[in-house]
Parts: sequence; structure tokens; C-alpha cells
Amino acid sequence: MARGNDGNLMQHAIEAKLISQLVTDRGLHLITTHSMAPFEPLDPRKKTAQHQARSVHWWERAQAEEQADEPCVVNAYRGTRQRVPDMYPNTAEIAAELAGRGNLQGQLIEICPEKCKRLNEAWANTEVGVVEGSWRDNPLDSLPEGLDRPWLLSLDPMSYVPEHNKDDDRFHPDDFNLLATAMERLCATQRPGAMGLFCYSMRPAVQEAFRRAADD
Ligand SMILES: C[S@@+](CC[C@H](N)C(=O)[O-])C[C@H]1O[C@@H](n2cnc3c(N)ncnc32)[C@H](O)[C@@H]1O
Repeated sequence: MARGNDGNLMQHAIEAKLISQLVTDRGLHLITTHSMAPFEPLDPRKKTAQHQARSVHWWERAQAEEQADEPCVVNAYRGTRQRVPDMYPNTAEIAAELAGRGNLQGQLIEICPEKCKRLNEAWANTEVGVVEGSWRDNPLDSLPEGLDRPWLLSLDPMSYVPEHNKDDDRFHPDDFNLLATAMERLCATQRPGAMGLFCYSMRPAVQEAFRRAADD
């Protein structure tokens, strides 16, 4: 269980490892459904709360000299902190550091117009498109017919809410069907890939409801 920026660190650590292992000389196809702006302010709680200690440790290590056997995420943060020292990068910026911006193609979905503006600036003249709107309306629009590279699909809803199926920033039971359809299309490409669904606030009762819905 991880919280606040510590949860963010866990997500980025998993994604950074996957990106490093998946990327080939052809690059990587990246789809993020809750993209965020390229950089956003860090959660101010990080300086005081004890459970944030790990994220502070690795975040600060990214400003020290590179050491052998560092987790991939530290390498990525080292690069993003050289460009924007005190703001939190999104997954696509992590991928840009580890795979090279020009080696990426795909789709960054984001509902907030202001964040899309900043994403468009960051990804101008690349093969990564920005899609403004809900990820529920944009199921893998950019997936090429003959995908020539590995893929990573990353979903980052705020939490799991089993009670209803509203189109909001949470994950709901009906979303498993959308995800299953996306996974079928991605797996049909027969390229290596990975999907991460990063859901916060997974208290035991919520975890149980999530597992039941996933099994269905
Ligand atoms: C937790 S942040 C994402 C963090 C980011 N994935 C990262 O790299 O750490 C959630 C983002 O999802 C966006 N969002 C919320 N609901 C959405 C929806 N239905 N479709 C697409 N984006 C959504 C929000 O505007 C916000 O920028």
C-alpha cells in the first residue's frame, strides 16, 4: 500500500521498468488514458508525512551523481529534473527520458483542455498524438494496423468505485469491458506489451470488490 507521492513513485517505478524492458530499436507504442500535464506541482504533503520518505529519497537521489544498479525510475527522474527541477513528470515524460521522445508513438488521452494544450506543446512534431476527452470515448484510436513495436497501456484512475458507472476520473465495473476490448486489440498485434492499471485508495473492501469485478 502506498500513498500520495509514494504511490506516484510506485507507479512510475513499475512503468519505468516496463518501458526499459519493452523498448526496442523500433521504439515503443505508448497509450496513457489519464495523461496529466507533462509536469505538475508535487504534492506538498511529501515534506512532512513519514509514508512519503521513500519518494523523497528517490526524488532527491535523482539530483545526485548516477550510481550503479539504480532503479530505472531514478534515471528517468534525473533527466526530467534536469529540465524541470521541482515538478512531478507524467508517465509520457518518463518514457521520453528512457526511450527517447523521437522513438515513441501513440496516444495521450486527457480530459482537461488546459493540460491538453501543454501536452500538445510537449509532443509537437512527434508521432505521439494528444486526444482531448474522456478515455472512455477514445478506445485506442491511434493503434496502427500493423503495429511494428512493443506497447504499453497505462491507466491511472483516482480510485475504484463499484457503485455506479459514471464517466468520471474513477474506475467502474463497466470499465473492465472497455479495458478488455483494448487488450484484445493490443494482444492481437502479437507484439510484446504490458498494461498497468494504477488505482489509488484500494482499501481492503475496495480491493475485494475490484477483484470480484475483474473475475467477472
Ligand atoms: C492522477 S492524474 C494522472 C497522473 C499521470 N497518469 C501520471 O503520469 O502520474 C489524473 C488525470 O486524469 C485526468 N482525467 C480525469 N478523468 C479523465 C477521463 N475520464 N479521461 C481522461 N482523462 C481524465 C485528469 O484531468 C488528470 O489530469
